[in-house]
This record gives sequence, structure tokens and C-alpha cells, in this order.
Amino acid sequence: MFTHLLDDAALAFENDRPEGRSRDLCRRDAAVFLHQANSTPVAFTMAGMEGVWAEDADGRRFMDFQGNTCHNIGFRHPRLIKALKEQLDVLPFASRRFTSEVAVAFAEKLCALWPYGPAKVLLGLSGSDAVEMALKLAYVATGRTRTLAFADSWHGAGLGAVWAGGRSAERAGYPEFAGCHHVRPYWDTPRETTQSVADIERAARLSLDDIARRLDKTGGFAALIAEPVKSAPCVPPAWFWPEVRALCDANGTLLIFDEIPGGLGKTGKMFASEHFAAAPDMTVLGKSLGGAAVGVSAVIARAGLDVAGHMAIGHYTHQKNPLLARAGLETLAIIGDENLVARAAGLGPWYREELARAVAGHPYFATATGIGFLAGVELSPLACPPEQRGYLLKALQLEALRLGVNAGTALGRFLSFSPPLVATPDELARSVEIVDRLRRFPHGA
Ligand SMILES: Cc1ncc(COP(=O)(O)O)c(C=O)c1O
Repeated sequence: MFTHLLDDAALAFENDRPEGRSRDLCRRDAAVFLHQANSTPVAFTMAGMEGVWAEDADGRRFMDFQGNTCHNIGFRHPRLIKALKEQLDVLPFASRRFTSEVAVAFAEKLCALWPYGPAKVLLGLSGSDAVEMALKLAYVATGRTRTLAFADSWHGAGLGAVWAGGRSAERAGYPEFAGCHHVRPYWDTPRETTQSVADIERAARLSLDDIARRLDKTGGFAALIAEPVKSAPCVPPAWFWPEVRALCDANGTLLIFDEIPGGLGKTGKMFASEHFAAAPDMTVLGKSLGGAAVGVSAVIARAGLDVAGHMAIGHYTHQKNPLLARAGLETLAIIGDENLVARAAGLGPWYREELARAVAGHPYFATATGIGFLAGVELSPLACPPEQRGYLLKALQLEALRLGVNAGTALGRFLSFSPPLVATPDELARSVEIVDRLRRFPHGA
């Protein structure tokens, strides 16, 4: 029955773009790119963007509240575009044995922002690069080769990152990268009910027990890598990370926080970890660090971990590329000058309350959750049989896009919203209205 809803949503969507330019482009895309899960083939196009808005090849405008969490400063921020054009005119590249003013200034800025004491930095291009550099550093610093991460987590597509992360479907068929272990995640709440505070507490306790058991029994872990706040969004209780930190300390295991989607103000703090009284040994950043223009990532490590000078940990050709560094530096400046972190902290609770109001008595959604500008509405367990949830969620995601907002899906039960930190209350309200209108789907939303 719910497969039908997905067909209905797809038909309605297609009927709304009669020009067919998107369809043609998607056809050419599928013909020229190697096919791979989640990337090719695709059904949607982008041809323009500004602020929270994007436009497809048929000229249809929508708010992008998913944006792969790359757009904390919004799309095509004028200051960023100006800075990149200036940089292109002056120094778009530096050979690897040469540094530049902008690369050093960017690294200095990252160290100054990190709230956990003296730090040093490695730069990369993708989140996956940063994760792998952090793991390599952890191996060298501890002399150990095992890692711990949450089952069903994602830390990037590189061979090392894909094994360190916990999504088995994404690594099936590749040679095993030994030493990667996975534990029950803190967000593993029961799926047959909506998340209650008690469920969240219990899931976190079970996760902590699993970490404790694994660290004790198996021993010898170089690092535990995890998102401090799951970008689904799921937020663990305040006690969780301090207790994990204590376990890591007791076992000589480093704690790496992956803030690739959740950092840089998204949760209402510059670093999501600042919601918890637990300092990581390293933080990895990416995605929004490049201002939705280029790929930039970083490992920020406590200065005491500068112990691998004899190894080529992140010897990437473009690691200190001045153009990429300028994107990172300008993005950080924009976040600071426009008070975007405070904006997410200030508007986030209102946004969540509005979403909660929109889902009251909703046939599909039961609750709204989130922190800062990471928000989501959770499917009601009564909305459909559990095995149909995937179809229903995809149909609602597609219909939301037709109505004007690109949302994500997460953990098989959330429609997630990760608006740029520059989104206005009106734009946020518009997405709430779309959630409300989804209650009429498939009949004339
Ligand atoms: C938590 C997390 N870590 C790492 C990555 C990898 O980033 P990238 O795709 O830039 O390599 C992602 C990407 O989705 C992510 O969500």
C-alpha cells in the first residue's frame, strides 16, 4: 500500500516539471557516471542557488534544508564568493613543500576556536580524509591498531573510514580492514514507539555498557570515534559523554569527535561537543567548513598529540591549498561576524516547538526532536506497518520537495531538517507549514 504512495509522490513530482530539462540531465548523468548507491542514478538536478534557496534545471525553486549539511553560511554567500575570486587572482595553489599566509591563518583560527586547550591541525579535502588522518594519528600516538565506533554510524567513504564506521552495507565486498569494532549506539531507541526521555536514557545506558564491556574485554583500542550529537537528530543525555570520556581515560583510548555534519554552529554551539562536559582528544570537521563551495576538512588535535612527525599522515597534494584554506577562513569569519551560532541557539528551540505544533494530530508524524538547527520529525509508529516505513518516509520526503523544501531522511524514521544558519524565521516557518500540509498527502497537499 505504501509503495503506492511513493509512486503517487513520484508522479506528482514529475507532473510538476513538464519542461523535462532535469529529466534529460539525469539521463545523461546516468549514462556517463559509473553507477553507485545513493549517487548515480539520481532524479534531481541543481542549476542555481542562493541563501537557503536552490533551483533545479527546470527553474523550480525550493529551500534546501538538507544541503548535505555543507551550507551553514547558506549558498553562494557574497562574502565567500568575493574572497574566493580574490584568492583565485592572487594565489590559487601552492606546491606541497610551500606554505602560505592563508593556510597558516586558517589553521591558527581553527586552533583558536577549539575550546579544549592548545591544539594543532591537519587539513584535508573531504570528511573521510579528516577521519582517516585522525585514526592514523591515534594509531601512532597509542601504538595500538583497534578502533571502536557505533554500529550504523557513518564516518566517510574511504576504505579506512568505511571500516571504522559502522554501516556494514557500505563495506560489503571490500577487503576487511582489521581492528574495527562496533558497539551499540546511543541513538538505538526502540522503533515500535516514538522516542521518550526514558527510551533515550535507556538506549544511552545500554550503549555505555557495551562500550565499557568492549574496552575492558578486548582492550587495546587506539580510539573511539563518534558523533557527539547524531545528525539524525538524536542527542544523548548530558551524562553520556563524560562517562564515555572516563572509560576512554581508564583504558588509554583516545576520543575522536566527528563533527563533520554537526559542528560549526549547527547545534547552537560552535562545536556540538560543547553541550557536554567531555573534552575530545581530537575533533574532525568538514562539510560546512568549505562554505558550500569547496571541499575542506580538518583534524584539530590537542597539541600533545604532535607525535607523528616521522609519518606522512595527511600528505595530500591539496592539503594546504590556499583557495581551499581561504574558503575555510572566510567561512569561519562569516559564522563569527554574523553571530550564526547564537542564531541557531536562539531560533532552534522556537523552530522545534513550531514543528511539534505542526505534528500534533498528524497522521504520519508523532514528535519533533532536535537541537539548534538540527531538527527532525519522527514517523508515528501507527502511521504504517514497520516494513513499510521506508516507502512512506521516501514518499513524504518527495512530496515535501514538491511543496518546496528538501529534507533528509534518517534512521528509517526521521524526516530531518538541517537549515542553513542564515535561514530567516519566515523561511523556517515555511518548512513547518510544509510539514503541516503533508498531513493531507496524498490527497491534495
Ligand atoms: C558523520 C560523518 N562523518 C564523515 C562523513 C564523510 O564526509 P565526506 O563525505 O566529506 O567524506 C560524513 C558524510 O556524510 C558524515 O556524515
